[in-house]
Amino acid sequence: MGIKILGIGSYVPEKVLSNADLEKMVDTSDEWIKSRTGIEQRRIASDEQATSDLAYEASLEALKAANLKAEDIDVIIVASISVDHVFPSTACILQDKLGAAKAFCFDLEAACSGLLYSLEVANSLLLGNPKYKKVLIVGAEKLSSIVNWEDRNTCVLFGDGAGALILGKCEDTAENCIIASDLGADGSYANILQMPAGGSRLPASAETVANKQHFLTMSGGDVFKLAVNAMVRSCKKVLEEAGLTGDDIKWLVPHQANYRILRAVASRLKIPEDEVYMNVSRFGNTSAASIGLCLDEIAKGNKAEKGDYILLTAFGGGLTWGAMLVKW
Ligand code: UT7
Repeated sequence: MGIKILGIGSYVPEKVLSNADLEKMVDTSDEWIKSRTGIEQRRIASDEQATSDLAYEASLEALKAANLKAEDIDVIIVASISVDHVFPSTACILQDKLGAAKAFCFDLEAACSGLLYSLEVANSLLLGNPKYKKVLIVGAEKLSSIVNWEDRNTCVLFGDGAGALILGKCEDTAENCIIASDLGADGSYANILQMPAGGSRLPASAETVANKQHFLTMSGGDVFKLAVNAMVRSCKKVLEEAGLTGDDIKWLVPHQANYRILRAVASRLKIPEDEVYMNVSRFGNTSAASIGLCLDEIAKGNKAEKGDYILLTAFGGGLTWGAMLVKW
């Protein structure tokens, strides 16, 4: 028995925010953003769209690709740091929109590693319990709603979008798609990437709003170094566990944070740059959505063949990180 990806879908909002647009909003330049991050544009959701709306569009595509109905889904997991509400879960809101009446639903908060964490949970649920046959996981973010548009250190980096995967079981273990995984966390670095207020530590007040504590804050340089080290370590572990090397990989699909981070990870794994899947130039950093957006492009563009090895890796707030080796 193994698990299989039955369908993939994605969605990005129509509105494009270019580096030139940002030049009019904060003291930045297209040259700085491109040379430091590789980002040229990002998508921004409309005022009417919440994270569940982005997740809904991506899920519809995934259901279509899997040739399934919403009623076939047993579990819905939404990974996000920009949920519709603190509660109820965005997964419950998505369940209602889809009409996935029999699914049990929860949100998973692992920031940019959210899709990898969700894959691991889905894998365990499917393999561990005969009751669960189809799991929908969605990485979805409306980061534009938690970005401080006056802070040039962060506002140039992020974008909105959603990526969805449907996972199911397969009898033939040769078809199994999750070959190896390594996930980690280190809460002692929680404060280098966070939203300070709005939770029980610092509930919302006029003062927290005035102090702009409901926006994402990041110590970029610290995150950069930790991200490269953690992703390289995790990727090496899963390659070793599978008895493979960088040469065996068709695509390295890293969380799309910054092309310099992606290049550094690839170089330390001895994976050539043209085997690193990158769309950060078009979508920016979409946190939990980014790996799903990449996988959907790979699927739709027929950029991988059955049996190819794809190495996923991510890093984000928490801190959280991980790598997963997937057989296409
Ligand atoms: O997705 C979760 C994980 N997140 C990440 O992986 C992000 C990791 N970090 C990064 O991607 C990079 O650290 C950044 C892109 C955020 C920053 O790049 P950097 O090369 O580390 O730049 P820096 O922080 O060293 O800043 C260099 C300078 C600073 O000016 P001073 O202090 O040297 O005068 C910043 O104030 O660049 C300045 N700066 C900007 N200048 C123009 C920061 N943001 C901007 C901006 N436009 N948007």
